[in-house]
Amino acid sequence: MVRVTVPIPGRSYDVVVGAGVLGEAALHLPGFPKAERAFVVADQGIVDRWFGTLATGLTAAGLDVVLLTVPSGEMAKTLQVYGTLLHQLAIQEAHRDDVIVALGGGSTGDLAGFVASTYMRGLPFVQAPTTLLAQVDAAVGGKTAVNLPEGKNLVGTFAQPRAVLADTEPLASLDERDFRSGLAEVAKYALTLDAELLDTLESDPAPVLARDPAVLESLVFRCVTAKAGTVAADELDTGGRLVLNYGHTLGHALERLEAFAGRTHGEAVAIGMVFAARLAERRGMAAAGLAARTGRLLASLGLEVHSALPPADEVLSAFRMDKKFHGGVRFVLLRAVGEPVVVDDVSDDELRAAMLEMGASA
Ligand SMILES: NC(=O)c1ccc[n+]([C@@H]2O[C@H](COP(=O)([O-])OP(=O)(O)OC[C@H]3O[C@@H](n4cnc5c(N)ncnc54)[C@H](O)[C@@H]3O)[C@@H](O)[C@H]2O)c1
Ligand SMILES: [Zn+2]
Repeated sequence: MVRVTVPIPGRSYDVVVGAGVLGEAALHLPGFPKAERAFVVADQGIVDRWFGTLATGLTAAGLDVVLLTVPSGEMAKTLQVYGTLLHQLAIQEAHRDDVIVALGGGSTGDLAGFVASTYMRGLPFVQAPTTLLAQVDAAVGGKTAVNLPEGKNLVGTFAQPRAVLADTEPLASLDERDFRSGLAEVAKYALTLDAELLDTLESDPAPVLARDPAVLESLVFRCVTAKAGTVAADELDTGGRLVLNYGHTLGHALERLEAFAGRTHGEAVAIGMVFAARLAERRGMAAAGLAARTGRLLASLGLEVHSALPPADEVLSAFRMDKKFHGGVRFVLLRAVGEPVVVDDVSDDELRAAMLEMGASA
């Protein structure tokens, strides 16, 4: 078991990573002396497998546990599901000292965090991420959100959890597609912030792909450490934290154009990172070869990097709904691996040319 502190002044919290930490929640959570109940917002696809374990841990911490199930995956991130949860909390007379616990992937965590930060103007909450993607990324950093049909994550808050319990045991039951989706975010950290991780993945991805428990624990630890440093330096996403958006501008546009039911988040981000590398090469910002290297890394992790893109015009208009849109689309580009920069002067023509290069129609 390892622990990473996210050092945000006045709101620091620990991410506890290791096998079995859900069942040992009482050992790892901070005290919630005034809380009576823990409302566990759980992805319905994993309730049977992991709710009992978590409930045992929470009961040992002196909390009465109430289960609130939500639809699996991205379909939970709607205003409708959000509203249903608020009603359920009100009907059950949840009070402000009670605790909300998110059990599931990034979708469940984003939704439950949004509920927790808005119901009665905010209840304490804990993230118990069960996907690789949520453990390395979504559960840490305090961004909460639901989607609108018009765009990804358009409604949400910044609200830090009180603790994150990243149990590596549930990662064993992830299907290949969801596991690989998490590896896309891992690749993001490797390409933007952690050269040593990049080296490890490039020299031999097999131990990661085999989901060796010790390897996964250290992988999650490395990524959370990278994220914690970035978030602490820029909690509200106005500077350094933008780097974590590498690959996400195109990624979010693809997710929205596919009505959040096509590529997974990680699959979309993977294509987005190849696209960003091509843009950087086209502008002469990065040396030739960055896109090919990015593609090789992602392919070695089982991610598809040559799949079809929607028509360029549709993607360009989807960019305009991006939260990072600011008179123009902002992109994180790499000068080289480990050297991210934010640029806001990429023209539509450049974007279109890079998309056509990747096989999009005009
Ligand atoms: N808040 C942030 O900073 C942040 C960062 C990155 C991503 N995100 C968001 O996270 C979401 C994606 O999260 P995700 O990739 O974790 O997917 P997800 O939450 O959508 O879950 C994907 C699937 O995995 C299943 N699942 C979950 N845990 C499982 C387990 N242990 N075993 C078997 N199946 C399991 C779920 O039932 C679901 O079908 C996106 O909406 C993305 O925008 C948020
Ligand atoms: Zn992401």
